[in-house]
Amino acid sequence: MNAKELKKTHEAVETSPARLFRAPGRVNLVGEHTDYSGGFCMPAAINFETIIAASLRSDRTLKLHSIDFNDTVEVDLDALPMDRQGQWSGYCIGTVWSLRDAGVEVPAAALTITGDVPQGAGLSSSASLEVATATALLALAGKTMSGGEIARVCQRAENDYVGAPVGIMDQFVSANGKAGSALILDTRALTFDLAPIPSHLRLVIANSMVKHSLADGGAYASRRREVEEGTAALHAYRYDIGLLRDATLEDLEACKAKMSPEAFKRCRHVITDSQRVLDGMELLKAGDIVAFGQMLNKAHRSYRDDFEASCAECDILAEIGQAQPGCYGSRLTGGGFGGCVVSVVEADAIDGFVTAIKANYLAQTGITAEVYVCSTADGAGEIKA
Ligand code: GLA
Repeated sequence: MNAKELKKTHEAVETSPARLFRAPGRVNLVGEHTDYSGGFCMPAAINFETIIAASLRSDRTLKLHSIDFNDTVEVDLDALPMDRQGQWSGYCIGTVWSLRDAGVEVPAAALTITGDVPQGAGLSSSASLEVATATALLALAGKTMSGGEIARVCQRAENDYVGAPVGIMDQFVSANGKAGSALILDTRALTFDLAPIPSHLRLVIANSMVKHSLADGGAYASRRREVEEGTAALHAYRYDIGLLRDATLEDLEACKAKMSPEAFKRCRHVITDSQRVLDGMELLKAGDIVAFGQMLNKAHRSYRDDFEASCAECDILAEIGQAQPGCYGSRLTGGGFGGCVVSVVEADAIDGFVTAIKANYLAQTGITAEVYVCSTADGAGEIKA
């Protein structure tokens, strides 16, 4: 459903005129699981997004209607339920809770929601729902927040309401993305540079169709604990290592005996991947796409072997991608354990690339991959129908 139809659908039920808001999903080019260690990552907002039609209400109710789930949820703003973790509405109610905690008086409102960010594919459908909700409710409340503040509010919703111990990358890029570029995000300073993506390249995202979840207390959280274990050992070795961001590979080697082999490998991935973001920015600035792509392939191996966050299907997709003409590099993107592989591909090689990746993946796994040829997008904001 497009924005115009969404507005019409909303107004048919709510009677008062709706304003429209959007927030994009993202793809991360490199720098995976670096964002809760103060490290660097390189996400780009993409042209898959959540759209919300919103209007004020005169009672004390927040009414949420999801077109895609065909579900309506009404909550009393004076008695917010704290038990909606497992449901789509939990991302919205958590955002309300977090906005309030940040001092925003959230008004009674009706939100009609739709979107095309594939769910459970590692393209940040949840962050885009949170950021779209925050953007809509802030506007209805007549308040403004910086993109960084919106990201923090939404990360808090996800950490402390939904219960997923994620970093800030997804919410940050959904709020602050810039069309034509990836962000070089410093997750400690919460500042960013732009790395322009040359216009002859396309970001092709291949969905392994293996679903991942960040909120089930499983693999994402256990990787994070291992990184924290390694960071604690590094801190004991050198007190000024507060975050893994402060440690070098030499520090890590010096502490190898003080941590589990798993923690050592996880930290090695985080330190090298954060460095790859900075190296990648230089390569993009120099226009050396070949070296940039090779670096992405190396990042996939680090994510697979050191962080052990890949899966057989995503390894197959990355291998197929890497072997195709016109493709510079392919790697698993996002939180891991399923989801999508991103490839950087010459625009004029796209058709062959998409055909080859689908056919080879089907032949090797029996699974039909969805493949999205993406463009980069701006961060969240109000839109016209
Ligand atoms: C998920 C999390 C992010 C980040 C990535 C891995 O997308 O939401 O905070 O940790 O995984 O880079």
